[in-house]
Amino acid sequence: MGNYNLAVIKGDGIGPEIVTEAMKVLEKIGTMFGHTFAFTECLAGGAAIDATGQCLPEETIAACKGADAVILGAVGGPKWDNVPGNQRPERALLGLRDQLGLFSNLRPAIIHQALSAASPIKAEIIGDSLDILIVRELTGGIYFGDRGYREGKYGTEAYDTESYSETEIRRIGKTAYEAAMARKKHLVSVDKANVLESSRLWRKIITELAADYPEVTVEHMYVYNAAMQLVRNPKQVVVIVTSNMFGDIFADEASQITGSIGMLPSASLGEGAFGMYEPIHGSAPDIAGQNKANPIATILSMAMMLRYTFGLEAEASCIEQAVTNVLNAGFRTADIASEGETALGTKEMGEKIREKMVK
Ligand code: IPM
Ligand code: MG
Repeated sequence: MGNYNLAVIKGDGIGPEIVTEAMKVLEKIGTMFGHTFAFTECLAGGAAIDATGQCLPEETIAACKGADAVILGAVGGPKWDNVPGNQRPERALLGLRDQLGLFSNLRPAIIHQALSAASPIKAEIIGDSLDILIVRELTGGIYFGDRGYREGKYGTEAYDTESYSETEIRRIGKTAYEAAMARKKHLVSVDKANVLESSRLWRKIITELAADYPEVTVEHMYVYNAAMQLVRNPKQVVVIVTSNMFGDIFADEASQITGSIGMLPSASLGEGAFGMYEPIHGSAPDIAGQNKANPIATILSMAMMLRYTFGLEAEASCIEQAVTNVLNAGFRTADIASEGETALGTKEMGEKIREKMVK
């Protein structure tokens, strides 16, 4: 029976509503399995800018470093659109990933059978299920490279730089090969090696690593081809490993294949068990505070936390099974409801999931 300390960043927009439901799910897990979860709420993103003038206060970094894991809702919104680039709410997320050393981002895109009609891809292509894992490098590449303004051929220009070291590629590559070992032993590495030097190094290191995982077949795909294959025949893609920026794009593409961006959880991990868990979607300011948001991605992120950081497999499955059962029973939030189906609110969906949690 464990005692777990969690730093909680509810964030902006729909963040507070969805995280509140996820915390209640953890409390229920605690009651059912005899664990205690202690929550320390802290500020980051727009809420932190409003309260302290800074998007990522030192206090928040310290609280996260002191916790066993971090739960995050979402950051950002139009209110902070005019804040300078290096102080935007999104910078808080990048700062957290960087300062907590969370270089590997796991984004599973699963189609629940009950929702297969929500996918825009034809049923004969999807079949009755789909299970893709995107392994995204999270603390390098163009997100963290040198940037600024300079004088160029056409006058003042802005620039961002993509760069990757062997060390960065090797450690994310290992995560991906391990993930492929646990799945169908097939890994798709996505790059732009026909143009980018950093991609050529990426391909070289991923190829070298293959020697340590002889059972895994690795396939290198150019990013434009991978983008096509993902909609043409998503079943051939089981585990994708790619750079920070391509991973950002692919996760959203994959989420649309599953039918809704409101369903996809994520785990951001470093060398140890510590991790940060958040839905892949954003803060959806247009529906914030209206009890309309889908809490499932955040609730499923809690299952990932229980599994990856705390090694609590039964507890993780308990949540995942409850979500599947709720969907099978026909309950939906607005984003996943088909025509004629009634949609539950955020709180009611959270409540339904908790009702269906059984040991
Ligand atoms: C994500 C988000 C972030 C990213 C933004 C909010 C900085 O889109 O987690 O995918 O680009 O990484
Ligand atoms: Mg994104």
